[in-house]
Amino acid sequence: MKIPFSPPYIDRAVVEEVADSLQSGWITTGPKVGALEEALRDFCDAGAVLCVNSWTSGAILTLRWLGVQAGDEVIVPAYTYCATALAVLHAGAKPVMVDVEEDFNISLQAIRAAITPRTKAIIPVDIAGYPCDYDAIMGMVQEEGIISRFTPTSPVQEQLGRILVLNDAAHSIGATARSGRRTGACCDVAIFSLHAVKNVTTAEGGAICLNLPEPFSNQAVYATMRMHSLNCQTKDAFSKSQAGGWRYDIVGFGMKCNMPDVNAAIGLAQFRQYADLLSRRKEVFARYASVFARCDWAIVPPAHDGLRESSYHLFALRVRGFGEAQRDAMIDEIARRGVAVNVHFIPLPLLSYFRELGYRIEDYPRAYDSYAREISLPIYPQLTREQQDYAIDAVMHAYKEVAARL
Ligand SMILES: Cc1ncc(COP(=O)(O)O)c(C=O)c1O
Repeated sequence: MKIPFSPPYIDRAVVEEVADSLQSGWITTGPKVGALEEALRDFCDAGAVLCVNSWTSGAILTLRWLGVQAGDEVIVPAYTYCATALAVLHAGAKPVMVDVEEDFNISLQAIRAAITPRTKAIIPVDIAGYPCDYDAIMGMVQEEGIISRFTPTSPVQEQLGRILVLNDAAHSIGATARSGRRTGACCDVAIFSLHAVKNVTTAEGGAICLNLPEPFSNQAVYATMRMHSLNCQTKDAFSKSQAGGWRYDIVGFGMKCNMPDVNAAIGLAQFRQYADLLSRRKEVFARYASVFARCDWAIVPPAHDGLRESSYHLFALRVRGFGEAQRDAMIDEIARRGVAVNVHFIPLPLLSYFRELGYRIEDYPRAYDSYAREISLPIYPQLTREQQDYAIDAVMHAYKEVAARL
């Protein structure tokens, strides 16, 4: 049997929605994007939602809107996908990496220790879909002692008057944070990735959820960012294509990262079924969790703590007592049985580009420790019981094989 790691969920409804877009005469940003933004906004109860062509471009757009520049710092975890830190570099600031906790998520203590007067934003990442502690992080940036050291260097920073909290919610669409609010509405800005392997996909895409405090108007910021996603052109392509609507102006240094309607159609059709798709993911997670909880060598990943609940994006299994070499050997054994697994994540300081920038893995021992014994198992709604059994069997066998060699 061959089990892929994370195939997209494409059913008849998705194909019909895409066909509808293709046949409508309008394939780039238009009514489908508008409908997806509205659906996401209602689902999360966010102030406003802007769809763009990736998480990465959404984060660059947001940090540019915040006005970060050379000399500014943005705190990110060392344990994440490269885009979290690359977006900071693209926006012209410095990623300040900090270590994580046992639950894979950014350490609150490490955030506190890393804050300086140059800190302009914090990007916590909901690893595997398990939300960070946003109540604590939002509380921290509003502490008197931290606000008094904040040094704004742009009009937006001036208006905010404190560090911005930007949730890398790439994995966590549908997760619930401690406050009972969904990720997407539990800090200033949250960005979902709608990339092909995510719980909801538009092939490539991202959704920026705005929940800025007063005096910001989320609707006004949405309009500004939308314009910035379209080269800072005062008219989008749809308005410009109407009879007599040709004149426009370019009023700033924008990006070109809008989401096309043909992509939004995929996400829209999936999102209509998301309650069901999410509960099927949860079932797969629960199955794996109940089996591996009985193995003394397995560490089952966190999914809920009575207040928070994951979006069950990944099943990030860790193997007690294993290091990188045994983990790699275990993956080879699993692959030999036709099951595709993955590792989330290679900590950024282990990647050449970041190492060359001077980040050192020795400074992030918990990130390294989680990485060295982590294996992400296949988890998606269409994974059948038979496939789940086969994947579990492959993992069990692989562990026995490798443990016997120790
Ligand atoms: C934690 C995290 N952040 C950001 C991204 C980037 O998302 P995108 O590919 O939509 O730019 C990913 C993608 O895998 C991710 O896993």
